[in-house]
Amino acid sequence: MTRTEWWRSAAIYQIYPRSFADSNGDGLGDLPGITGRLSSLRTLGVDAVWLSPFFTSPQKDAGYDVADYCDVDPLFGTLDDFHELQLEARRLGLRVIIDLVPNHTSDQHAWFQEALASAPGSPARARYLFRDGKGENGEIAPNNWKSVFGGSAWTRITEADGTLGQWYLHLFDTSQPDLDWTNPWVREQFREILRFWLRRGVDGFRVDVAHGLVKAAGLPDFTAPVHADVPGGAGSMNEAVDVPYWAQPGVHEIYRDWHNVLNEFPGDQMICAEAWVEPLSKLADWVRPDEMEQAFNFSYLETPWSAESIRTVIDDSLEAFGGVGAPSTWVLSNHDVIRHATRLGMNPPPPQGDGLGPNSPYQVHAELGLARARAASLLMFALPGSAYLYQGEELGLPEVVDLPDSARQDPTFFRHNGTKYGRDGCRVPIPWESAAPAYGFSPSGKSWLPQPFEWGSLARDQQLGVEGSTLELYRSALALRTELGLGLGSLSWIEGYGADVIAFRTGDLTVVANLGTASVELPAGTVLVSSQPISGTSLPPDATAWISAS
Ligand code: GLC
Ligand code: CA
Repeated sequence: MTRTEWWRSAAIYQIYPRSFADSNGDGLGDLPGITGRLSSLRTLGVDAVWLSPFFTSPQKDAGYDVADYCDVDPLFGTLDDFHELQLEARRLGLRVIIDLVPNHTSDQHAWFQEALASAPGSPARARYLFRDGKGENGEIAPNNWKSVFGGSAWTRITEADGTLGQWYLHLFDTSQPDLDWTNPWVREQFREILRFWLRRGVDGFRVDVAHGLVKAAGLPDFTAPVHADVPGGAGSMNEAVDVPYWAQPGVHEIYRDWHNVLNEFPGDQMICAEAWVEPLSKLADWVRPDEMEQAFNFSYLETPWSAESIRTVIDDSLEAFGGVGAPSTWVLSNHDVIRHATRLGMNPPPPQGDGLGPNSPYQVHAELGLARARAASLLMFALPGSAYLYQGEELGLPEVVDLPDSARQDPTFFRHNGTKYGRDGCRVPIPWESAAPAYGFSPSGKSWLPQPFEWGSLARDQQLGVEGSTLELYRSALALRTELGLGLGSLSWIEGYGADVIAFRTGDLTVVANLGTASVELPAGTVLVSSQPISGTSLPPDATAWISAS
């Protein structure tokens, strides 16, 4: 099979399985639910889907706590259901990428249970980062590291004989013990996990916390300098700070190894890193020719709504990724951040990971946010490289701010005693049909997080074929993107529009985004698609247009 490197220009749609479509009425999305709705993604016009974890898991972090990497959690279905999903995807011409979570397992994983039952210093313990505590009786944690979700990154165990014992490291929740990636045994297990799914025909992997696997030798204490943005939410890091658990040089050896594992298979599989690493020039190390194919561009996601900042991050991205022969990626939303239809209407938005809730001290301008989100997405789809979408953004869904505390499930909320809301607000099950139970999400009307009443009017059936809807905007843009080969194109800036406008050419297309407060005169040509209605030749504020030169 030839390698087409389809991922260089692909539009990839993130499915968050628990919130996409529920087939059996338990209120939690599942694999048969996804299979039944996949054709709507063909209609949308994406090239591939990425599925967040559906593996065996006690669901302490919505499946990012894996207890068996090679099986499907009964909540989501079976391995056969996954096979059916793949067949349907293939029939529709959609590639399927799955999520790999190698930094930590669930505490219910057999490896960790065995480690708990074994003695300190045993090979079973050596798969994880167990250490003796400090202090006279080992009562002080081995170092001062903090969990990304809040609180200490260490938990002390009770040994098999009932005495208080060693501590284990968990950069995330207590239920997510970190593996020790200096251990060759761990490396071999993950090679086999990759092969297991490659043999089953997956097209690629999104790798969770791909900047965290290797920790600095000796696990030295770390105190974030005041003012440094470390570690925000899912673990971003500041370029100026060397954090002993992020972006350690040793991780690259692992990805070179995985590159070889992918090469054992014919076809065109890829790996995308979830690595919150700055600056982009450093992130580019993850996608050197013998490592991964892509890395999420979180610098782009985090850039505020300012023409100058966006131009700069586009330039930096194309330069950094292009410098190592990799495509840039672009992303505005995922299951860890405030949906961009809400985020772009806030000035400034709260730090990543904090989330939004009824008592957040932030003002949300919903209409402005949606206008900007539509403009931002249309701008993104014109950029050369691969674009990631998060389920529901094609409907213009906002963050759900008024979830009751009793409904919340994100460990962030609990580990901060409710002082941070966390990420549930972007994970609410999406609406399909306005008149159906749970807006078509579930036949029983159940939904693991409550859906807002207003979502009926945003349901897919209210937007499909409706001129001016967000869904139709996405469909037009994605169809044109494919037709014009924009993902493989290059970009040249057009000067002269002033500081608040982003204008560039890609192929025969001119793209103009107006981030200012006054309307902008568009160049001559036909408006192929615009994020707001255009009267005459004037582009309103917070809008983007694609114009064909001819
Ligand atoms: C990544 C995931 C996030 C998860 C965390 C721990 O950041 O995207 O959802 O909570 O890793 O696995
Ligand atoms: Ca279900």
